[in-house]
Amino acid sequence: MKAKTPSDSRTVMTDLVLPSETNPLNNLFGGELLARMDRAASIAARRHSRRITVTASVNHVAFNRSVPLGSVVTIEAAISRTFRTSMEVFIDVWMEDRFSGERTKANEAIYTFVAVDDAGVPTEVPPLVPETQLEKERFEAALRRKQLSLVLAGKMKPHDATELKALFMD
Ligand SMILES: CC(C)(COP(=O)(O)OP(=O)(O)OC[C@H]1O[C@@H](n2cnc3c(N)ncnc32)[C@H](O)[C@@H]1OP(=O)(O)O)[C@@H](O)C(=O)NCCC(=O)NCCS
Repeated sequence: MKAKTPSDSRTVMTDLVLPSETNPLNNLFGGELLARMDRAASIAARRHSRRITVTASVNHVAFNRSVPLGSVVTIEAAISRTFRTSMEVFIDVWMEDRFSGERTKANEAIYTFVAVDDAGVPTEVPPLVPETQLEKERFEAALRRKQLSLVLAGKMKPHDATELKALFMD
């Protein structure tokens, strides 16, 4: 299969925060942001694999900054690493200042998607070649995150998680 780059899957979604999408503090409701990120990540996974893709896990979400009502929110998703049938998707969330237009990072998340055939059976995806320094860093760390996610899901024994052992032991 021909390798692709993160740019091939990059997906950018910009939208407003409306009153029905906020919590009692008038900030974006966390579940709404999760859904928006899932949509962007799903499109990125589909662009990379050109297959049906399903969310296998939400590996990491950091709600670092609240996003007020009326904000313009931009979600950027791109594949950060592929394995055999799964793809790690990195998602960056930006807020745009109403007056200056300056963008600040609000949140980030990492999802895992799996490409499946019409019967829902996992199927191979093209390899990924990272290009920028950031893409290379995200690629390097992805195996560690995959192993952690599998251990937490009970799908890998901790002693098989070679990358995690390397982090915590000599
Ligand atoms: C995701 C799904 C296809 C995985 O099926 P499975 O029987 O576990 O298949 P496999 O064991 O072959 O795993 C497929 C890939 O997913 C990876 N994977 C499975 N669970 C994972 C997890 N929790 N974290 C990270 N990767 C995971 C496996 O490591 C494997 O990756 P690889 O082929 O790239 O090495 C299956 O569990 C499923 O269909 N889940 C429902 C998905 C869905 O409906 N999502 C929407 C939520 S409502």
